[in-house]
Amino acid sequence: MNEQATTAASNTSRMIEMRGLNKWYGDFHVLRDIYLEVERGERIVICGPSGSGKSTLIRCINHLEEFQKGDLTVGRLPMTRDIKRIEQIRRQVGMVFQHFNLFPHLTVLENCCISPIWVQKKPRQEAEAQAMQYLERVQIAEQALKYPGQLSGGQQQRVAIARSLCMHPDVMLFDEPTSALDPEMIKEVLDVMVELAHEGMTMLCVTHEMGFAKTVADRVIFMDQGQIIEENAPDRFFSDPQSERTQLFLSQILGH
Ligand SMILES: Nc1ncnc2c1ncn2[C@@H]1O[C@H](COP(=O)(O)OP(=O)(O)OP(=O)(O)O)[C@@H](O)[C@H]1O
Ligand SMILES: [Mg+2]
Repeated sequence: MNEQATTAASNTSRMIEMRGLNKWYGDFHVLRDIYLEVERGERIVICGPSGSGKSTLIRCINHLEEFQKGDLTVGRLPMTRDIKRIEQIRRQVGMVFQHFNLFPHLTVLENCCISPIWVQKKPRQEAEAQAMQYLERVQIAEQALKYPGQLSGGQQQRVAIARSLCMHPDVMLFDEPTSALDPEMIKEVLDVMVELAHEGMTMLCVTHEMGFAKTVADRVIFMDQGQIIEENAPDRFFSDPQSERTQLFLSQILGH
């Protein structure tokens, strides 16, 4: 392969690329010169102290936050302010939040069908059949006709994951998906995430579940004060953290 062909081939496997991303909230510089490349199928865990910019960083990927400087490409599409481009990019990106964000007035099944029907224009029957398949996969199909308020937190979060998968995303973003859950429900959600990772989904997960990071992450990224301070494969990251800030952070979260 010549050099041009090699570059083209390697670009097709790139899912996300951030080059010199900077964001301010007014005077507050929340993201500072972020460089991040994520290949298709890669699993990234992002951790760091509260307020370090983790949520802001991943929310830039589907334009829930705007950045002011730098470049971001998702699936080779450069992010712009053009609404059509934003929609193209959002179609590739699924997101799961800490607080599930399910529609309380819709059943589990309706929550999973609403975007396929209204955004993808799928016939209702097809959307429902697909939703049931994904609900099966997260082992909650028997709750399909219930409302979110009738489910436990762990069950609601699994519905939120199924709902995202119904849109066939190329990459999934998770923002502390287990941190609002009671301890006994954390595992059932992590199990679903681990399965997704093993199936080859590209994933960026903000989480402090270090067991999860050790099991599935290809890379762990540590952020502090709007910067990526350190990134490494999990075994190196945990056994030999390089910066003092990472060492301090790990001693705090692993210390209890
Ligand atoms: N809309 C906003 N306006 C102004 N400042 C904001 C806004 N959203 C977030 N911030 C600030 O930006 C910083 C980064 O916030 P962000 O939510 O990305 O942090 P985080 O690392 O996800 O923290 P946590 O672990 O608590 O979720 C924080 O100092 C926060 O107060
Ligand atoms: Mg956050």
